[in-house]
Amino acid sequence: MKTQAITAPVPGSDMGHEIVLRTTGLSKRFGKLEAVKDLNLELRRGEVFGFLGPNGSGKSTTVGMILGLIEPTAGNIELFGLNLRDNLWSVLRRVGAVVEAPAFYPYLSGWDNLEVLATATGGVPKSRIAEVLERVNLKDRASDPYGHYSMGMKQRLGIASTLLRDPELIILDEPANGLDPAGTKEVRDLIAALAREGRTVFLCSHMLHEVEQICHRVAVIKQGAMLTSAPVDELLNRGHMLRIAVADIASAEEVLKKLPWVGSIKREDSYLAVAVPKDRSSQVAEALAEQRIFPSEMISHSLSLENVFLELTGGKSGD
Ligand SMILES: Nc1ncnc2c1ncn2[C@@H]1O[C@H](COP(=O)(O)OP(=O)(O)OP(=O)(O)O)[C@@H](O)[C@H]1O
Ligand SMILES: [Mg+2]
Repeated sequence: MKTQAITAPVPGSDMGHEIVLRTTGLSKRFGKLEAVKDLNLELRRGEVFGFLGPNGSGKSTTVGMILGLIEPTAGNIELFGLNLRDNLWSVLRRVGAVVEAPAFYPYLSGWDNLEVLATATGGVPKSRIAEVLERVNLKDRASDPYGHYSMGMKQRLGIASTLLRDPELIILDEPANGLDPAGTKEVRDLIAALAREGRTVFLCSHMLHEVEQICHRVAVIKQGAMLTSAPVDELLNRGHMLRIAVADIASAEEVLKKLPWVGSIKREDSYLAVAVPKDRSSQVAEALAEQRIFPSEMISHSLSLENVFLELTGGKSGD
């Protein structure tokens, strides 16, 4: 969680209060399929917001709606406090996005590809191209053809292209797909740095280890519907387990069942495996002691975000 401490908004600053993106009751139906159902999201300025869900759960459809590429069946999208439908061009100018594999000309250099984009966009000074290439650490390879770039360099050029217009909100759909650990780390560090500048990052990802390290908050969706939306710390706290060894397992189970903040309780041989928020472990010991139940062992361990995610989503792909 070290990275998180560095990237979190400065306490007491205004960052983190302003709502940059809000969806209310957002829904999309493709024929009979409800790809997105009644989705309510709120992203604050300067945060990295993780958007997680199994394959086919509706992440890219949501992104498509936010970018005005897919017409919602129902619901509303506000960007920077303005209704998207009525202010499409003025608000989308403030948004940068990399969706799927960015499309660049393979025979043109990284620089030339950005120049093509800058010209098409209009109003982007040439000096900005050098700036963004430097920003994503591609300055030295700027004149190499895009086709010769590694996967990580291609992704970074994609991010560079979104930075041309100095966006306040950056939407990344699976930016670390197909990257090796070093490439993933480069993208992760870049995202953290963008958030430190006060930009908001909406990150769709399957790489839960990455998400755990850089996101402030996450939403988890399954089959188009929100399962949970919470700060990463809170989710990890929820994913805290206690393994309790007691002689009388049945009585201990009865006591624990009555505690409202205890999650799942499973019997494992001579242990009870109990989902308990991290800060409540001592209260478990207390509640058992009150009933004169004294565990011979209490082992606590935390689930990774990956395991919390699998518990939440049932561990199956949505497809
Ligand atoms: N244009 C379309 N027409 C019909 N069905 C679609 C269309 N686009 C998406 N879908 C369906 O909507 C559902 C959600 O797809 P979506 O691409 O949003 O999921 P995702 O969460 O981005 O998945 P992944 O993790 O695989 O990228 C899927 O069942 C998909 O097949
Ligand atoms: Mg997708």
